[in-house]
Amino acid sequence: MNQVEINEASTFILEKLTAEPSIGLILGSGLGVLADKIENQVVIPYSEIPHFPVSTVSGHKGQLVAGVLEGKQVIAMQGRFHFYEGYSMKQVTFPVRVMKEIGITSLVVTNAAGGINESFAPGDLMLITDHINNMGTNPLIGPNDEAIGARFPDMSQVYDKAYIKHAEACAKKLAVGIQKGVYVGNTGPAYETPAEIKMLRRWGGDAVGMSTVPEVIVAGHADLRVLGISCISNMAAGILDQPLTHQEVIETTEKVRENFLQFVQEIVRTLPTE
Ligand code: 6GU
Repeated sequence: MNQVEINEASTFILEKLTAEPSIGLILGSGLGVLADKIENQVVIPYSEIPHFPVSTVSGHKGQLVAGVLEGKQVIAMQGRFHFYEGYSMKQVTFPVRVMKEIGITSLVVTNAAGGINESFAPGDLMLITDHINNMGTNPLIGPNDEAIGARFPDMSQVYDKAYIKHAEACAKKLAVGIQKGVYVGNTGPAYETPAEIKMLRRWGGDAVGMSTVPEVIVAGHADLRVLGISCISNMAAGILDQPLTHQEVIETTEKVRENFLQFVQEIVRTLPTE
C-alpha cells in the first residue's frame, strides 16, 4: 500500500464523483443502512477500485457510497475490512488513506461492540472518547512518509473533543440517550473469555470490538478529525449468563437502527468540518 496505489484508487473514485466529499463515514456491522439515506448516490463496489481488498463477512456489503447526506458531501464505506479476515493492517486502513486523498477532512467511524461497562445495556450508543489498541500490532509499522504524517504521531487527541461535544449536543437535542467510554480493539475473531473481559474492565475499557482502532490510528496519522460511535450490540462475556452470538449483534443493531440513523444524520447535518 504505497502512495502510487493510494493515488490510483483515489483518481478512479474521483472520476466517478461530481463533488468532493468532506466527511468520510465507516459503517459497521448492521449499520450500513445509513448509506441508504445518501442522496444523489454514486455507488462503487470495492471490487472495482484499484488495490482495494474485497470484504467477505455477511452483514457487510462492500461498497463505497458517495453523495449528499443532510446537505453535506459524504463518502461512506458500506462494510469495512477486518484484521481477523486475514487482511494486513495496511489493507484494513487503505480506504482511510484513499478517503483522505480524495479530500475528506473528517471521519465518522461506527461499529458494533460488546459492552464491558456493567452500567451499559444492549442497544446503547457510546461515543468513543479514547481507545486501547490491544491488537498486538499497529498499521503505521514500516517506513514512514513524512509528507503524510509523523513517524511518532500523537494519539492523545485523536478523538476530536469538539466532535464529542457536538455529538452530545445532538443526542440531547434528539433526546437520544448516549454513553461515553473507552473502546478496546481486539483482533477477534473469537469473542473474549469472561476472564479477559474482567481484565479489560480493570484496564479501563468500556466496550470491546474487532475494528476501528487501526482506522483511527491511520486517521490520526493523516490528521483527520475523528468521531467514533459504538453501538453496544450485546454485553461482553461473563456479564450475563448467556453465550454471545453474531446473530445477537445483528439483531440489536437492527433494533437501534432508527435511533442510530437519526443520531448520525443530525451529527452530519451540523458537523464543523474545518
Ligand atoms: Cl463481546 N467482543 C468483540 N471483540 N467484538 C464484539 C463483541 C464482543 N460484541 C460485538 N462485537
